[in-house]
Amino acid sequence: MSDIVNVDYSTKIPNNVNLTEDRQVLRALEGWHPGYIDWWKTMGPNGFQEALVYLRTAVSVDPKGWAKFDYVKMPDYRWGILLAPHEEGRTIPFGQHYGKPAWQEVPGEYRAMLRRLVVIQGDTEPASVEQQRHLGKTAPSLYDMRNVFQVNVEEGRHLWAMVYILQKYFGRDGREEAEQLLQRRSGDPDKPRMLGAFNEATPDWLSFHMFTFFTDRDGKMQLESLAQSGFDPLSRTCRFMLTEEAHHMFVGETGIGRTVQRTCEAMKAAGVEDPGDIDKVRGLGVIDLPTMQKKLNLHYSLSLDLFGSEVSTNAANAFNASLKGRFQETKIEDDHKLENSTYPVLKLVDGEIKRVDEPALTAINMRLRDDYTADCQRGLDRWNKIIDRVGVSFRFQLPHVAFHRQIGEFRDVTASPSGELVDAATWERQKDKWLPSKDDGDFIQSLMRQVVEPGKFASWIAPPRVGIDNKPGDFEYVKLAA
Ligand SMILES: [Fe+2]
Ligand SMILES: [Fe+2]
Repeated sequence: MSDIVNVDYSTKIPNNVNLTEDRQVLRALEGWHPGYIDWWKTMGPNGFQEALVYLRTAVSVDPKGWAKFDYVKMPDYRWGILLAPHEEGRTIPFGQHYGKPAWQEVPGEYRAMLRRLVVIQGDTEPASVEQQRHLGKTAPSLYDMRNVFQVNVEEGRHLWAMVYILQKYFGRDGREEAEQLLQRRSGDPDKPRMLGAFNEATPDWLSFHMFTFFTDRDGKMQLESLAQSGFDPLSRTCRFMLTEEAHHMFVGETGIGRTVQRTCEAMKAAGVEDPGDIDKVRGLGVIDLPTMQKKLNLHYSLSLDLFGSEVSTNAANAFNASLKGRFQETKIEDDHKLENSTYPVLKLVDGEIKRVDEPALTAINMRLRDDYTADCQRGLDRWNKIIDRVGVSFRFQLPHVAFHRQIGEFRDVTASPSGELVDAATWERQKDKWLPSKDDGDFIQSLMRQVVEPGKFASWIAPPRVGIDNKPGDFEYVKLAA
């Protein structure tokens, strides 16, 4: 660890927050950095710390400077503190403080609530790195290997972003929270990460792509609503994080798309017409579409839980306090205070799923979740187009929001993917048709073989249409250590 004590932070941490002149924060970050590197080396990508990876790093936030590509060893990645540019005269776009100048300091009365929001967001960032740490060993190509590492280093940067906010604006308890963020571990029963989906395993690449499609998209929605925050530094941080988040969802959507394409093409070539003929399809060395649907059911339902309860006073309080807004708040045409409006919420009423009007203020989570669902559906539509184009008869569908839930209105019932309430016995009988079974997992695992020859891909996934940074198909995205 001695090699990092003398790091020149003024140049080593790319930043646009004038760190050199902010001695106190600089010292706090210096104090935190060794623990972060320790965490990265023990919990980051397992077995690839010495590999040279073709990564992009942000060196500034303007369109030209924020994506520079080069080979770098991951522990030397330039994790920086980058906020979207200060907007002169920005006003608070919602809540009780609507229309007032955005806060540049933490409003005392909301300190605890704000800290909690930052910590919950911050906790998800290292969690996904921990979940994905074994994937390099089964990467279907160097291209894909580079992508998971890119996502990992950026999640690491997102942790830095939240730690900066904690250390700059929350004093001693902020520093303690920053320490805790390095202590919790995904899936550890004694010190788990804070949210359910971030304690699940990511055992294979299909899971990884589903995760980046569905769970990073929850991240996008949370960042979008924090980007509206009346607390300006948080808003600026989240606005920049969203530019990185877009790449994570690209990795997920195209990863699934390429898997779907490969499956459909293999079926066509072999003359297999029925997508449900699982043995035949699997015999081709590709993942059958019904198994992909089951994975989708799992990851979508886990991600819905991240939105919290449909009706929530916490969410109402955060909105009222002008700390956490709605998706695209400034484009919504209403009073931005939600004093008298209602919002339709799906609820369980006398054993039936019904739409009930609730005060819009308490239905903030539900609304964000609806926006999320619409965003997911657009991705499914694109996958379905790939299936259509190849000429296979199959459609992906999002399961009903009551399906497989642990949080909110439907946590105590069992429902089918189409939203029909079923008894426990039916659930037990059917669940292997609705969610990935052990057999499905074993089969997918059997396909997970590392492919490291430049330009080559595993049997189950098609090559991408274009390379990263427009590199040719046989580009060596990762130079493995000898
Ligand atoms: Fe993130
Ligand atoms: Fe992400």
